Order: sequence, then structure tokens, then C-alpha cells
Amino acid sequence: MTAQTQARIVLGIDIGGTGIKGAPVNLQTGELVAERHRIDTPQPATPEAVGQVVKQIVEHFNWQGPIGCTFPAIVHNGVTLSAANVDKSWVNAPAQQILADATGLPLIVLNDADAAGLAEVVFGAAKGRSGKTIVITLGTGIGSALIVDGQLITNTEFGHLIFPKDTIAEKYCSAKVKEDLDLKWKDYNPRLNAYLEHIQLLFSPDLVIIGGGISKKADKFIPEMQNLRFELVAATLKNEAGIVGAALEAAKHFKV
Ligand code: BGC
Repeated sequence: MTAQTQARIVLGIDIGGTGIKGAPVNLQTGELVAERHRIDTPQPATPEAVGQVVKQIVEHFNWQGPIGCTFPAIVHNGVTLSAANVDKSWVNAPAQQILADATGLPLIVLNDADAAGLAEVVFGAAKGRSGKTIVITLGTGIGSALIVDGQLITNTEFGHLIFPKDTIAEKYCSAKVKEDLDLKWKDYNPRLNAYLEHIQLLFSPDLVIIGGGISKKADKFIPEMQNLRFELVAATLKNEAGIVGAALEAAKHFKV
């Protein structure tokens, strides 16, 4: 293979509350170069148990190089500082060190929504966009990524805004809330609309991208949103955003 045809590939792993998924990612195209491998998140999802699953994913691909790994919590300098929807033993855990030790490979950890944001900037709906972009992921919780002129501002946690009152946004309008309360779209959409209006009031974004599993049904909610001054679109990268964004971050960090 010549230098020109050699693909730059990094392993991306997306750690979630129910599943841990990974695949090698082609950094030029954003495509997965092998079918993604998924293992149920162990319960309880302690750092040690999750480390073993991450190791199994690495072994599945016989992977030897750098790894990017998402985590659904605040991740600051490799330390997980919150645990809203995961085992509480992750609070203040040296996640990056634990997972690097488990795999024996160079590994970087970042917030899952930040990873989705990076993937959208490089390959998706935020590509080439200037101004303020906010990615909101609607899943078990609500994750967020703030991107200013293509630059990610990490750990924004807009799902934890106090909203509408006496609660936080992710307990009001996450995809899990829709499911748990069995809300029809006509009952759920006003909640999401009110939350997006609140985001608008606070941040005046130019573009908001909705990610998470729910974005596959974008036609059910995007056309229903009102009183928004910004452009609202569904994420381009659906299930794979975390894996791709994690690989991008690792490539940047380890200079792949
Ligand atoms: C966490 C965030 C995470 C989001 C989506 C929230 O509960 O605090 O860090 O990005 O869930 O997983």
C-alpha cells in the first residue's frame, strides 16, 4: 500500500448505560471500516466491569493502536465528574487511566455528546458552519455540545439546566421521559419546544442539531417546533456519532 492509499483508522468506542459499542473508523470518510461490535453494559456498571468490556471490544477487533472512548458524564482531564445515568462509582474516577490500563493501549475519554458534536462538525450537519451550533442528544438523558466557529466547548451539560422548574431538562423531555410516560408526539412536542425556546433565550444559537435515537423520527417533531429563530435539523450521523467522534478525538490527541 502506498502512503496515499493507506487509510487512517482509529478505534472508536461508545459507552452507554445499556450498551457498549465499538468499531474502527476511517478518519477521512467517517465510515466504520468493520461492522460495529456491541456488548451489553455490565450491571452494575462499575469502572472495573466496564474496563473488561472495553477490553473485549479491543480484542474483538484485534486492535493495537490508539482508542477514543465516550462516556455519558462530565469528563474533565480524563476524570469522570458526574454519573447521572450510570453507576455512582464513576464520580471522581480516573476513567481514562482505568480504561487505558484495562486495554494496555493509548486511550482518551470524552463526553458522549461532545463526541457526537465533533462527528457532526467534521462529517455531518455542522460541517463548514460558522457561528454558534448546539447539538442536543435526546436519549436516556439529554447531552449537549456547543460549537463556536467549528471549535467545541466541552462539558456544557445543557440537559441539566433547571427546566421547566424544580427539575432538570432531561427529566422533562429526554427520549426516556417520552417512553416512560408513554407520551404521544402531540404531548411530547410542546415539552421539547419549550426546552428549545429556553435554549434560544439563553444562548441564541444559529443552528441546533438534534441527535440520539429519536433523531431517526425527526419528521415527527422538527416540523412541529414553533417560535424558534435558529435553524433546527436532525443529526446526520445517527447511531454512529459517538463512535466516530471518539475516534476523531483520539486521532487529534495521539496525532494519527
Ligand atoms: C449526562 C451527560 C451526558 C448525557 C447524555 C447526562 O445525564 O450528564 O454528561 O452527555 O446524559 O448521555
